[in-house]
Amino acid sequence: MKCEKKQTPLLLNSKKMTPHSKASIITTADGSHTLALTTADETYHSKHGAITESAHIFIKEGLHQKTQNSTICILEVGFGTGLNALMTLLHSGNQEINYHALEPNPLCIDVVQELNYTQLLKANKQIFLQMHQAAPEEKTAIAKNFSFTLFKKGIAFFEAPASFYDLIYFDLFDPQLTQELWTPDIFSKLYRASRPGAIMTTYSVKGAVRRSMSLAGFKVEKLPGPPGGKREMTRAIKL
Ligand SMILES: C[S@@+](CC[C@H](N)C(=O)[O-])C[C@H]1O[C@@H](n2cnc3c(N)ncnc32)[C@H](O)[C@@H]1O
Repeated sequence: MKCEKKQTPLLLNSKKMTPHSKASIITTADGSHTLALTTADETYHSKHGAITESAHIFIKEGLHQKTQNSTICILEVGFGTGLNALMTLLHSGNQEINYHALEPNPLCIDVVQELNYTQLLKANKQIFLQMHQAAPEEKTAIAKNFSFTLFKKGIAFFEAPASFYDLIYFDLFDPQLTQELWTPDIFSKLYRASRPGAIMTTYSVKGAVRRSMSLAGFKVEKLPGPPGGKREMTRAIKL
């Protein structure tokens, strides 16, 4: 699948930006890539380290809090570069993972090819590309214990199954940019889609975000943030 102008709002190439480009690849403090929007002062990950951030917020405080589950259903809101899915696969151990990813603006494969995650994490690049190229809304076996479904739609349009997810990675752009997505309505939808005991993690600790999560029914806590990055992060639990 090649980039097509009308298909992908984010047409990226680190060497040659097209006139339609809205982001470019940059290197964060731990050496891993992220994407920086050219239209706003916003990146896909922390500039202090993309892999470091993912490892802390979504793996340590998310996946690794669910080690008692032999099977785990995960929803990622904002698939983007696919780093969190790759990290989850690499840290899944013996767990069966059923991973659902939402992304209304998928990256073109030329850009994904250039990201240095598989190189840094010594992971199989074909598997990473396979996730990005998965047929939408079809469950694909990426590895023996890891199935993956990509939904090319935003959270507002996603028909979330009831009481289904054990873990939610809420990884949208900053609430200041996408205020309409960090609301009690959206979090209520995610609350209904969560099983009792489910965890949702995110990098934002904004008061309004935490209040919206609480209003939706989650128990919300602040935890220390990633090493070298933001001081705090948020974890929400459906009791
Ligand atoms: C912070 S970035 C991506 C982070 C991503 N988890 C990663 O590791 O690259 C936010 C992502 O959310 C996507 N997005 C924007 N609106 C969305 C929506 N309504 N629902 C789900 N994802 C959305 C963006 O296209 C972008 O890829």
